[in-house]
Amino acid sequence: MTTPNAPHIPWWKDAIVYQIYPRSFQDSNGDGIGDLRGIIRRLDYLKRLGVDVLWLSPIFASPNDDNGYDISDYRAIMSEFGTMADFDELLREVHSRGLKLMLDLVVNHTSDEHPWFVESRADPRSDKRDYYIWRKGRDGQPPTRWQSYFSGSVWEKDERSGEYYLHLFSRKQPDLNWENPRVRREVHDMMRFWLDKGVDGWRMDTINMLSKHPDFPEGRPLPGTNLTDGQPHFLNGPRIHEFLQEMHREVLSHYDVMTVGETPGVSPAESALYCGFERGELNMVFHFEHVFLGDDAAERGKWSNPPLTLPAIKRVLASWQTGLHGRGWNSLYWDNHDQPRAVSRFGHDREYRVESAKLLCTVLLFMQGTPYIYQGQELGMTNVSFESINHYKDIETLNAYKMLRDEHGWDDARILASVHARGRDNARTPMHWSGGANAGFTEGTPWIALNPNYPDINAEAAEADPNSVWHHYRDTIALRKSLPVVRDGTFTLLDAEHPTVFSYIRQDAHTRLLVVGHFCDRPGVYRIPGEFVDGEVLSNNYPTQELAQELQLRPYQALVIRARRKP
Ligand code: NOJ
Repeated sequence: MTTPNAPHIPWWKDAIVYQIYPRSFQDSNGDGIGDLRGIIRRLDYLKRLGVDVLWLSPIFASPNDDNGYDISDYRAIMSEFGTMADFDELLREVHSRGLKLMLDLVVNHTSDEHPWFVESRADPRSDKRDYYIWRKGRDGQPPTRWQSYFSGSVWEKDERSGEYYLHLFSRKQPDLNWENPRVRREVHDMMRFWLDKGVDGWRMDTINMLSKHPDFPEGRPLPGTNLTDGQPHFLNGPRIHEFLQEMHREVLSHYDVMTVGETPGVSPAESALYCGFERGELNMVFHFEHVFLGDDAAERGKWSNPPLTLPAIKRVLASWQTGLHGRGWNSLYWDNHDQPRAVSRFGHDREYRVESAKLLCTVLLFMQGTPYIYQGQELGMTNVSFESINHYKDIETLNAYKMLRDEHGWDDARILASVHARGRDNARTPMHWSGGANAGFTEGTPWIALNPNYPDINAEAAEADPNSVWHHYRDTIALRKSLPVVRDGTFTLLDAEHPTVFSYIRQDAHTRLLVVGHFCDRPGVYRIPGEFVDGEVLSNNYPTQELAQELQLRPYQALVIRARRKP
């Protein structure tokens, strides 16, 4: 029975998203590279975990300079991943289990091997020239000194025409010219192609970079280099909201789909322009404020890996919880394919690996928003420390290695320590399915080495152990779904400056929940609000808990307590 006039709740507000990095998920044909048929094989596992939506990192034809984030044909499947028939079957199998499938929309740039760019470069008079951003140099130098995200300049000179093209990422990822209405129409058509197949949404890669300042002003100097920071001139640029509203009007509004934009450098207030309920743009965005905390461009950005403090993390996450409440919708994540493993970055990946991975699950999943679980997070997979740079595959890491060595004089040990802490390959080693050969990922030679700890940390063992991280994720997902307050309630941070406890209250008209996470490898005592002392413990990552106003907490303990009295 439906309640008359019940407010319409979009499905994505109740969804839990699971991110698959297809290259590293499951190989089915022994070539050492994960593929679509491998994903089909693991759908029942995902269903058992309780997630609702699968987001696949790019699966389109690509020369793989940046593992598929450099697309050469938006309407073809990457040959290593399978065929369009495999994709159609995957989509059917996903839907037949009541799951949904979200794809990755990478339209800030294409591959330089995309036919549009091939033509654009070959012939300055072709109608594809203006699909990309070409500029003349200034006094024999590139148009600006902006630094690319993958080191070096954002401009590449084409010897044939003598002009430069813009690439915010690698030189094999030329930026599309969104000022050109034909480019926008091409993208809209391509989106419809996939949506008409029944795809349920898009994660939108670096979507707040589409609109560049038309004059390409010089950026702020970056100390220690002759390059500059151009971000103020292309992040959240002058026409970005016009472009996204047009995309919504032309495409998205005609389908019941979910969208999440990747938006580095947005604050909660700016994000409301992207995901505000009335804006007609996106459903939610990924902000970077907690994962980039303290990273300072002047100090070589993330490679300087400054220490994190819990009050800083709490401040950021609470500002997003309260900043968007009632206005827009949050996405919740600790890690993804670009970040180190959550338990290694925010938890304790040695003796308290299991406890701290569970704590991160609880603290994240009880906030308001749509949670994103990255493959292997549900097992508490950890960072990897390859002993030599030769084992690494990621273009960002390899380019940074050269830059830090050649331009900044860092020695091998110092660079490797940074890579071990922050490199993207931490998240890209193959998924651990079992303790058998190659962790059950492939019968061939894996494209990147495995994390050697797979005999201890793997899905088969985790499913068989009721105390595993995996079971905690499954139980927490189910619990979250049974409590509408988690979707709808307000969020109040307690004790913002407490150095080791992250605690907050979620409340609606019926329910008041206290969430307590103890980010510390020693026992502690934490004073809780009186109304929870006779409360009900709904979730605990240790077997028992005595409630008292002075709560005794064990290392990395996480609790959810429901007050008995109605608010
Ligand atoms: C963000 C993606 O998540 C990352 O993996 C990629 O390298 C860049 N965008 C460029 O597409």
